[in-house]
Amino acid sequence: MPRLPKQNYYDIERIIEFDFVRATEAAALNSLRWLGRGDKEKADEAACDAMRGMFDLMNICGEVVIGEGIKDNAPGIFKGEQLGTWIPGSPQFDIAIDPIDGTTNISKGAPNSISCIAAASPEEGVKVALRDVPSFYMMKLSYGPRVIHYMQKRGDTLNIDSPIPETLAIVARAVEKRVQDVVVMMLDRPRHREIVEGIRNAGASLRMIGDGDIAAAMAPSLPESDIDLYMGMGGSPEAVLAAAGIKCLGGEMQCKMWPRDEKERKQLIDEGHEKDLDRVFVADDLAKGENMVFCATGISDSALLRGVKSKGTTAITHSILMRAKSKTVRFIRAAHNLQTKTIRLRSDNREHTI
Ligand code: FBP
Repeated sequence: MPRLPKQNYYDIERIIEFDFVRATEAAALNSLRWLGRGDKEKADEAACDAMRGMFDLMNICGEVVIGEGIKDNAPGIFKGEQLGTWIPGSPQFDIAIDPIDGTTNISKGAPNSISCIAAASPEEGVKVALRDVPSFYMMKLSYGPRVIHYMQKRGDTLNIDSPIPETLAIVARAVEKRVQDVVVMMLDRPRHREIVEGIRNAGASLRMIGDGDIAAAMAPSLPESDIDLYMGMGGSPEAVLAAAGIKCLGGEMQCKMWPRDEKERKQLIDEGHEKDLDRVFVADDLAKGENMVFCATGISDSALLRGVKSKGTTAITHSILMRAKSKTVRFIRAAHNLQTKTIRLRSDNREHTI
């Protein structure tokens, strides 16, 4: 009998992708007990501990290139941390990670928190897959495949710097709605006052969220979401994670660095970023290449994913898993038996029931 050709496992992220979902599931499950308990730091700590614990079981050389935005000394997984066993010869991954996007939401028991990871393996021609943007915030505009197809067909173009009525008119035509039916999602922040006025004056409808703009920025790219556009200023690490997810979903995102004040603008210039201050980054500039996995698990309900649901001795998690190369979008609903399920925590290197 002819021998089968040897498998070429160059597509390493295809083999390992489910372990990344295990990591976001573990973070979601382990932080759940902090839902609504007013302690966002404990929730973050629990998510990080479970994520690190899961990575300790993965034979990869993972390096965090985008960690959490450093906010009020919160615990977190930050840039430079090594994840995985680092057994010599194990596959390499650059990792962007947010154990919880929406920690305040968790502490309030509010919707819109997810756990997510983007991981890129080395690829010819790609020097930096996940771009570490130096500003704290970016201005973001994201839209889904329908808008892209419309623009390709009709020659219209959306630009993050365009006046709001112009942007809304293009999106309305693309999704075949009246402008007043176009739905825009945005973080509820004082810094958005002018944009909010612009959207309301143009007549479109807003959906304001408290926190968690990774899921929100991805929402317009999901056919089932009711969101047509995401706009506003949010964290730069979150922009990169959203860009990875949006790219896998076939949507697009435009972002610009948004210094909070003159001091930050000056610092960016002093550090040599002046030429990038006016640059519009698209999804592929932030998350480059095809050797990329994106996954997320819902903690509380969001436009992207349902949160964890407990039913008796079962916990149900909802995750999304995608690869940039194949663009397959998997929604994974997992039933975890709480009598048998254990999660490995880094803090004591042991398995724990939930
Ligand atoms: P955390 O979960 O780290 O608190 O971040 C939540 C978040 O809402 C992000 O989704 C968003 O990009 C960023 O904070 C916005 O920052 P700010 O709260 O400073 O407006």
